[in-house]
Amino acid sequence: MKLLRLYDRFEADIDRIERDLAHKVALAHPTLRDAALHLLRAGGKRVRPVFVLLCGQFGQYDVQRLVDAAVPLEMIHMATLVHDDVIDCAHTRRGQQTVGARWGAQTAMYVGDFLFGKAIAQLVELDVPAIHRIVSRVMVQMVIGELEQMRWLGVIDQTVRDYLLRIRRKTALLIASSCQIGALVAGASEQCAQQLYMYGYHIGMAFQIQDDLLDFTGTETQLGKRPGSDLRQGNVTLPVLYAAKDARVREVIARCLLPGADDSVKNDAIVLVQRSDGLGEAARLAQRYCARALRVLDRLPNIAARDDLRTTAEVLAHRAY
Ligand code: IPE
Ligand code: IPE
Ligand code: MG
Ligand code: MG
Repeated sequence: MKLLRLYDRFEADIDRIERDLAHKVALAHPTLRDAALHLLRAGGKRVRPVFVLLCGQFGQYDVQRLVDAAVPLEMIHMATLVHDDVIDCAHTRRGQQTVGARWGAQTAMYVGDFLFGKAIAQLVELDVPAIHRIVSRVMVQMVIGELEQMRWLGVIDQTVRDYLLRIRRKTALLIASSCQIGALVAGASEQCAQQLYMYGYHIGMAFQIQDDLLDFTGTETQLGKRPGSDLRQGNVTLPVLYAAKDARVREVIARCLLPGADDSVKNDAIVLVQRSDGLGEAARLAQRYCARALRVLDRLPNIAARDDLRTTAEVLAHRAY
């Protein structure tokens, strides 16, 4: 689904982003082009471009400039997905084969690098030096986030703080930066851009917690992948950490995380998490992040864009896909 369908008046702008994305990746070596178009056409919510447009309303709304910022941010997101699916050995993404499954892991690594390269080439066209600093920092932090996730793979002995630090890097910072960049490109004040960054950060945290919850509550059709995939891969997420406060549940989860654990113990662990209060507790933390994002909005100018951000926060917090 395309989030901007929520806002009829943005439809033309998101279509422009879609066309530009397809156009930019099409000017490439055939394998790179086919793989990138495959991922684009498979779907995706375009959350980061949506935030660029929404936050661009806090300055001079210049569609072309905002598209020029939104497209590379979506490409960076796409690149991380292609690489992430190789690392996670994932076969499906957005309901379709992953680039790694279809073209092989080696090609997928290059497809990701290609998308990063294309993104940077477009970003340098924007005459706002701060944006380059923001984007390079995010790219470094995302890599650290993914590395940290590998380090904690299969380990139940970790804290909620370890988890939060990881998702901050891997997800929240790119969403926060998309908001900030939308505002900066539109010439909004530094202070306003900083508030929008904080809004995006809290939304990003809620978004990843929600994603981790959906892995236990969603259906295969909604998720575009098999439910319970995170725990099957050894990725210990927030609902699991909360569920493991019960010693009996913790023991099954620990067995499920052992190398070579069979499918039946994995299924048992997934069902135990699904029946635990871990889901409710994680949902409550996501709600708290969402509430913090809404509080940041109170400090922003009272314009229609602020209501759009409020609605977007609420829609994302209740998403089922
Ligand atoms: C997937 O991001 C990875 C996370 C950060 C949760 P999205 O949920 O934004 O993925 P698409 O772009 O809509 O497929
Ligand atoms: C997605 O991470 C990639 C990044 C956020 C960098 P995950 O592995 O947690 O998400 P899915 O489940 O593959 O989308
Ligand atoms: Mg993954
Ligand atoms: Mg991953």
